[in-house]
Amino acid sequence: MPRRKMANEPAAGPCTVVIFGASGDLTKRLLVPALCHLQSFRLLPRNFAMVGVARSITKDASLRAELGKAARELSEIPVADWKKFQRNIFSCAGDFDDPETFRRLSDLLARLEKERGTAGNVLFYLATPANAFAPVVEALGKAGLLQEEKGGWRRVIVEKPFGRDLASAKELNRQLSAVLREDQTYRIDHYLGKETVQNLLVFRFGNALFEPAWNRNYIDNIQITLAETLGVEGRGKFYETAGALRDVLENHVFVLLALIAMEPPTSLQGDGLRNEMGKVLAAIHPFRNSKAVFAHSARGQYRAGKVDGKKIAAYRAEKNVARDSEVETFAALRLEVDNWRWAGVPFYLRTGKALAQRATRIVVEFKTTPLMLFGCGEGPVPPGPNRLIFDIQPQQAITVHFRGKTPGAGMHTERVTMDFDYREFQKDPRANGYETLIYDAMIGDNTLFHRTDLVETAWRIATPVLKAWAAKTPREFPNYAPGSEGPASADKLLLRDGHRWWTPGPQRARAARGSE
Ligand code: BG6
Repeated sequence: MPRRKMANEPAAGPCTVVIFGASGDLTKRLLVPALCHLQSFRLLPRNFAMVGVARSITKDASLRAELGKAARELSEIPVADWKKFQRNIFSCAGDFDDPETFRRLSDLLARLEKERGTAGNVLFYLATPANAFAPVVEALGKAGLLQEEKGGWRRVIVEKPFGRDLASAKELNRQLSAVLREDQTYRIDHYLGKETVQNLLVFRFGNALFEPAWNRNYIDNIQITLAETLGVEGRGKFYETAGALRDVLENHVFVLLALIAMEPPTSLQGDGLRNEMGKVLAAIHPFRNSKAVFAHSARGQYRAGKVDGKKIAAYRAEKNVARDSEVETFAALRLEVDNWRWAGVPFYLRTGKALAQRATRIVVEFKTTPLMLFGCGEGPVPPGPNRLIFDIQPQQAITVHFRGKTPGAGMHTERVTMDFDYREFQKDPRANGYETLIYDAMIGDNTLFHRTDLVETAWRIATPVLKAWAAKTPREFPNYAPGSEGPASADKLLLRDGHRWWTPGPQRARAARGSE
């Protein structure tokens, strides 16, 4: 539930966090730093242990050293914080497919329960490749590690991807639900942990100002962009199995869409929020055939070039990427939310790697006034429509674009802005989005985690696109230059409706880059 947890919540109750994939990138870059941040926010349990399960690291000291190096180098965790945190780390070496690993884990958990008072509460975190999710959960079940005994709880956090299409998502859900209850299953999407994402709810439902205009009568179109400047950066092996639609659009961008379009939940407790998010996705009709897919989507792959003056190799030249790869590094969709509030309003979504600017942003464009009293505006900045812009990251701002009078003689007008900068308000900018979600899982609050039906509804929309794309070789690949806004086909998606992607001018773009 979105609350100011970082500021004034109590520490979580006793527990052990077990991370499968302890020497992986996710653990090093995000999970361990998030746990360290929770420690410094005084939200980590007093009775706490972290167990890392990795194939080759047999000694606690080696695991502590490896994670410590990463914490210093990648996340600038202060030495004193790390010294305090590392005492909680224990290693359990072994293969995920070896039952012996789970027997050793069981012994270790029993020992930690006694020595550290973790009360039999265990949060398992599957930071593994997706093909290990089902086998690990099954093995946990077989080893009796998911049994909740003597008042202790057992929960499992699963990282995306939750399947690769509707059929595999259903199969994964079936495998998980064979050993776990829904309330033990925490499917994480770190976008829901971001302050600026949770603030969308507060902005919409904690203020009376905009909500009356939040519908098809006043809003012309909504654009959601999740743009990255980095390429796939050595993750070629994974990315070849994913692509931009599976990796980012179908989950993170859909979350933003659901939050911006949902009805007010009746409560933030229990399933209130997830019910409403689910209804938005359910109101998006999947494309019926490949003609519809190609009319409402765009895909791209970057060639070699430069981003911000830095050379970047073509996607097809990346390690572990096929030289004729057809995997998209850019994806855009034009969707409609077919309900009473939104019918006829286009939602344009796009994401991509190696683009001009790192920016996650939602632009809500309002309709024009019924009468153009002031013409098109002759001031230095053309006024354009009213816009509400949510900069999610790295800028964290909300900006309103409106028309103002250009000072001086005559009634000339131009675009002026009102800004709110979230960073002036945020007490602790260190959080990476995982803190609040891991804390939620520790206290048993699954409001901000995906539910089975949400996952399947999202795949229902994405699967026809994936199928149509797979069936047609993208002969135009590679079709965009690094440092650009993506392929021209993504612009055409909007131009056909008389729209354009809104991007900030050079000054704001520079400011955004400066804050990365
Ligand atoms: C991850 C994707 O889920 O999200 C990455 O696997 C992507 O490819 C990342 O870079 C984006 O997250 P953020 O928080 O950096 O916008």
